[in-house]
Amino acid sequence: MTPEPKLEVRRFAAEDFPTYRSWYADARLNRHLGPMDEDWLAHVLADTEGEQWAVRSDAALVAVIGLTPDPEQSAWVITDFAVDPTRRGQGWGWRAWAALLAQPALRERRSFRAYVAEDNPEALAFFEVLGWQRLAAPSREDPFWALAWTRWGPVRRAAGVVPKTSRNTVMKLLPQSSTLDILALPCFQVSHLRHPFLQPLARQ
Ligand SMILES: CC(C)(COP(=O)(O)OP(=O)(O)OC[C@H]1O[C@@H](n2cnc3c(N)ncnc32)[C@H](O)[C@@H]1OP(=O)(O)O)[C@@H](O)C(=O)NCCC(=O)NCCS
Repeated sequence: MTPEPKLEVRRFAAEDFPTYRSWYADARLNRHLGPMDEDWLAHVLADTEGEQWAVRSDAALVAVIGLTPDPEQSAWVITDFAVDPTRRGQGWGWRAWAALLAQPALRERRSFRAYVAEDNPEALAFFEVLGWQRLAAPSREDPFWALAWTRWGPVRRAAGVVPKTSRNTVMKLLPQSSTLDILALPCFQVSHLRHPFLQPLARQ
């Protein structure tokens, strides 16, 4: 079995910017999160409330995730989530999310929101596979899906250790509406535990 890649997570730095900006030659990324320019970098580096995270593998930037607090919702909002376009669809997105959640700075954060544009069904599918729940559909006033993700209890082990094949298998077997047991695991892992195929995971 191919070993899971080791991910390093740290705050976005100026040195990450040339690579990150080069990703915006990709039309899909540029349409959804662009344009990317020096003003964005200046804002990110000066921001004292929001956080921009860089996820790297073997010293290469693989994903960039922005978070900002929403005190009204007592939640952290994903402001942007980008995977290196050359690595899309290879599991880097869900691994990056799991690695970010495992950071000490995030371990106490339970509640997250994301707002996904109605013309971005790929991102909607991505978040839903990771266990995000739809809160509101796009409307004329607000053309975004509102999504929420909640972490139940302290995380006992890093999220994302479930092998990808198991994740796919279980996602296909479980109905979307299955009620989740409240365990000390992120919700997409909780749903895995309900299937006998993965019972050994529950004992880890
Ligand atoms: C959305 C994004 C972050 C997902 O990252 P990714 O590395 O491509 O996603 P993963 O490979 O980890 O996919 C995890 C699961 O999400 C779902 N998914 C991902 N891309 C999908 C697509 N294009 N269509 C349908 N489902 C998709 C799949 O179920 C996938 O699991 P599977 O491959 O086992 O079936 C990435 O594609 C991206 O950077 N998109 C452009 C920017 C953007 O739209 N960001 C979101 C708005 S903030």
